[in-house]
Amino acid sequence: MRYLTFALGKGRLANRTLETFEKIGITCQEMKDKDTRKLIFVNEELKLKFFLAKGPDVPTYVEYGAADIGIVGEDTILEEARNIYEVLDLGFGKCKMCVCGPKDAEELLKHHELIRVATKYPRIAKDYFYNKKHQTVEIIKLNGSIELAPIVGLSEVIVDIVETGTTLRENGLSVLEEVCPLSARMVVNQVSMKMENERITKIIRDLKEVLAKENGK
Ligand code: PRP
Repeated sequence: MRYLTFALGKGRLANRTLETFEKIGITCQEMKDKDTRKLIFVNEELKLKFFLAKGPDVPTYVEYGAADIGIVGEDTILEEARNIYEVLDLGFGKCKMCVCGPKDAEELLKHHELIRVATKYPRIAKDYFYNKKHQTVEIIKLNGSIELAPIVGLSEVIVDIVETGTTLRENGLSVLEEVCPLSARMVVNQVSMKMENERITKIIRDLKEVLAKENGK
């Protein structure tokens, strides 16, 4: 039996993913060591491998087949637009993609002004403003701390993830428009889905069962 390889987005999502996997009997003891600098972990018994990658790289590993399965946020899937199958909504990591800014930027949005939009998600922002709102904007790509942009005058608004809303609140910004809801998803390589169909389908089925139980269905 060959190894089935999982790519997990580093951080909060990876921890929640491992918790959920444990419930279907998929464990990886050596991954639980918080101090380890190892990047790849093996469960010899189940013939599984797990590796931690930067979130935006997960769809890339899966598209090229370096990982059979990936766990990543819907935001990253939309932004990367890779040729992969999205097979399951894991229901955790829930948040929203929003247009945010100071309250007075609301008028600029309403009147379709040519504004600057700072974001880590240029594709999602472009799709939203050009295809849904039919508003021409200038999109500026940033790599983090996006909330800074309207505060220091780089842009009028931002397109970013809002989870609790604390970052916005503490920086005097608000949600002005909602783009889409987001959550963690399981993605699968297109060839793996055929070659390892039985094993992958079983994992999806088991996860669905656990998630349904958790949601009290
Ligand atoms: C994300 C996002 C917001 C924040 C939202 O940033 O970009 O800044 O979390 O969360 P909240 O609504 O609960 O405050 P992240 O922590 O991933 O870091 P980043 O600024 O480097 O993108």
